[in-house]
Amino acid sequence: LNAEDIAEIKKTWAIPVATPTDSGAAILIRFFTKYPSNLEKFPFRDVPVAELNNSARFRAHCGRIIKTFDQSISQLGEEGGLEKIQDIWQGIASSHVQRHNIPKPSYFELREAIVEVLSEACNLNERQAEAWNKLLDIVYDIIFKKYDDLGAQ
Ligand code: HEM
Repeated sequence: LNAEDIAEIKKTWAIPVATPTDSGAAILIRFFTKYPSNLEKFPFRDVPVAELNNSARFRAHCGRIIKTFDQSISQLGEEGGLEKIQDIWQGIASSHVQRHNIPKPSYFELREAIVEVLSEACNLNERQAEAWNKLLDIVYDIIFKKYDDLGAQ
């Protein structure tokens, strides 16, 4: 990521992070609507998608996803930031293998929902979409390397 990528990511991120739970909810509802099998992995699997916003456990998870991105984005451009970003996403990969049993393809499905919702919410131009895709490539690289280390698929 170059300085311009980082500036574009930070500038556009200000919009979804202002309402973190609602932004996370928009992403997850898109994710479950397009790829319903992912909902089966969650404790709120029996809640119909239209009612998810009333589930406290769902809302908590929405906030956590946004917080993970926020912690990473605040490290961009900082000294030692890349190591911290690595720690954050290796931790996500480990818990998602060991506790949640999430297979790699689910991440591609989630990525689609993230990019779609961000593009709409932030009205991303081409340059901004490119910066976000670079960040997601970095994050997904960290996740999948950890999956490989753990022998997970
Ligand atoms: C839990 C973040 C991708 C399913 C969590 C937690 C965080 C988190 C912070 C709670 C702490 C923990 O258990 O580690 C993220 C981020 C993701 C991601 C930042 C990638 C961008 C996914 C995907 C799935 C998934 C693709 C697939 C269905 C779950 C489940 C839980 C969980 C089932 C447990 C929820 C609960 O017990 O209420 N996630 N996650 N996550 N995640 Fe993810």
